[in-house]
Amino acid sequence: MQILVSPYELSEQCRDWRAGGLTTALVPTMGYYHAGHEDLMRHGRGLAERLVVSLFVNPAQFGPGEDLGSYPRNAERDVAIAEACGADVLFMPKADAMYAQDHGTWVDVPDMAKRLCGQRRPAHFRGVCTVVLKLFLLSRAAVAVFGNKDWQQQAIIRRMVRDLNLPARIETRPAVREADGFALSSRNVYLTPEERAQAPEIYRGLRYAQELASRGEKDAGILRRAVLRRWAERLPLGRLDYLAVAHPETLEPVTCIGEPSLMACAVHLGKARLIDNILLYP
Ligand code: PAF
Repeated sequence: MQILVSPYELSEQCRDWRAGGLTTALVPTMGYYHAGHEDLMRHGRGLAERLVVSLFVNPAQFGPGEDLGSYPRNAERDVAIAEACGADVLFMPKADAMYAQDHGTWVDVPDMAKRLCGQRRPAHFRGVCTVVLKLFLLSRAAVAVFGNKDWQQQAIIRRMVRDLNLPARIETRPAVREADGFALSSRNVYLTPEERAQAPEIYRGLRYAQELASRGEKDAGILRRAVLRRWAERLPLGRLDYLAVAHPETLEPVTCIGEPSLMACAVHLGKARLIDNILLYP
């Protein structure tokens, strides 16, 4: 596995592969790998002849007061994991190699980016789209892999790819969960033992809504309130950011579960802001 830090070198390497008739799969990450990242990488490995994994804690997607400075990092361990998962290149640029001091070009999907997580993180998805587009342009990957745990992110990236006619296919993978249902995230490291003990209640609440929907409850407001009541009892350390029911592709609010709908949430537990989601089927 090569470790590349320069965008130019990545672009040249991928160009050489293309010239030799080899396709590239891309797995963008911010590092501090867990089994969810490993799943994305192993899946990407099977999709193309060459696999590029990017490891870049993208400053553009962090807002003021967020955890850019303290975001967990362990480059040595991540290098070993990426290699074991079959990456041909691990791209680890420095921030100033990706963003010139006077960087001023942004990619945004504003209608979708303002919903759900975007309510409290107004510039987040603009930062995500911009860095992901740069990675697409550098790698010219035929396919890129994202996790479904950040449902909004993959939905926005799909829209960006469609709107800009990017020649890349997007594949998604389900969240990888602990045995108790808690979704893996690099930010889980922020949790105290007490917070970790309550954390599985996030997904249990979503599963409860899914069960009620499958038993015929179609009113999104009722489902939402049922989850909030459950969380009030079983997740007292949690502080709600949002819990919403939305169209899985457009992310527009849904009031009646007439077709499969997304229930998505963000909950603060101590220092961690945790996101999760589930599909509700009528
Ligand atoms: O999901 C992430 O880790 C990041 O948002 C991504 C896609 C790597 C862009 O920085």
